Amino acid sequence: MARHFLALHDYNKAELDGMLTLARELKEKQQQGVPHRLLDGKALAMIFEKSSTRTRISFEVGMFQLGGHGLFISNRDSQIGRGEPIRDTARVMSRYCDGVMIRTFGQEIVDEFARYASVPVINGLTDLFHPCQIMADLLTVVEHKGAYEGLKFAWVGDGNNMANTWIEAAAIFGFDLALACPAGYRPDQAVLAWADAKAPGRIIVTDDPKAAVRDADVLNTDVWASMGQESEQKERERAFAGYCLDDALLALAKPDAVVLHCLPAHRGEEISDSVIEGKNSVVWDEAENRLHVQKAIMATLMK
Ligand code: CP
Ligand code: NVA
Repeated sequence: MARHFLALHDYNKAELDGMLTLARELKEKQQQGVPHRLLDGKALAMIFEKSSTRTRISFEVGMFQLGGHGLFISNRDSQIGRGEPIRDTARVMSRYCDGVMIRTFGQEIVDEFARYASVPVINGLTDLFHPCQIMADLLTVVEHKGAYEGLKFAWVGDGNNMANTWIEAAAIFGFDLALACPAGYRPDQAVLAWADAKAPGRIIVTDDPKAAVRDADVLNTDVWASMGQESEQKERERAFAGYCLDDALLALAKPDAVVLHCLPAHRGEEISDSVIEGKNSVVWDEAENRLHVQKAIMATLMK
């Protein structure tokens, strides 16, 4: 049975820490030009039902650096977009490829794909979770802060796929997380209930951005309208007024707090230009770390 990477909750802390350690080793090797062809001759299918810059490039380049090959498959020019069933696609791709990465809408789509696939399946973002991104974010925090233990993490904005994955991460890794989300845009209730049962009291949800960011070590936000929610842009702009991660909010966090954003960012909406370009921002390191973390995930699952 193949082991998949669909959500952080399928893994324990030791396993995820192991992937972060491997990511650091692979990053060092890459930077020193030391070959690390852990997936020599292997192929990863990369299915995109939504747009991507970082995820596509980092998986494809990552496979290349590991000695394998990544194939970009969009729903527009494959039979997926013409309605070929997920379970058929999963079985066929498993006969050609050594792993599959999927970016799609419902989490149930990646779950079904994984049920029928005989090779590892990696979640490259769903409406519910973005686990590869949060692993890259944690690697970035460890690089800048030395460790994630004992830090206060804050989330400002939509209770979306990123927020849900942070909630799982806080419960599994064991750090404090305060999320500020307006009414109607809170994180997934089932995810919150799962995390609260696993790590009671670690995660706080408020509608007050100031309370969430106060004395935080790590600040994080994301777009107000995620992919698939474009038609809600205007009503979301109204709902999220006051939830811009700007200099005034940043001033309430610890002076050496780091600012994360998974990107793409909308300056002037969820984050100000001054904050994303400012001295606390580590967003470019964060984007780079997608590559190193995903190489570690692929090497762990596919070797
Ligand atoms: N952060 C992220 O997943 O970026 P892309 O949508 O460009 O892949
Ligand atoms: N929440 C955003 C993340 C993009 C990487 C979205 O789902 O569109």
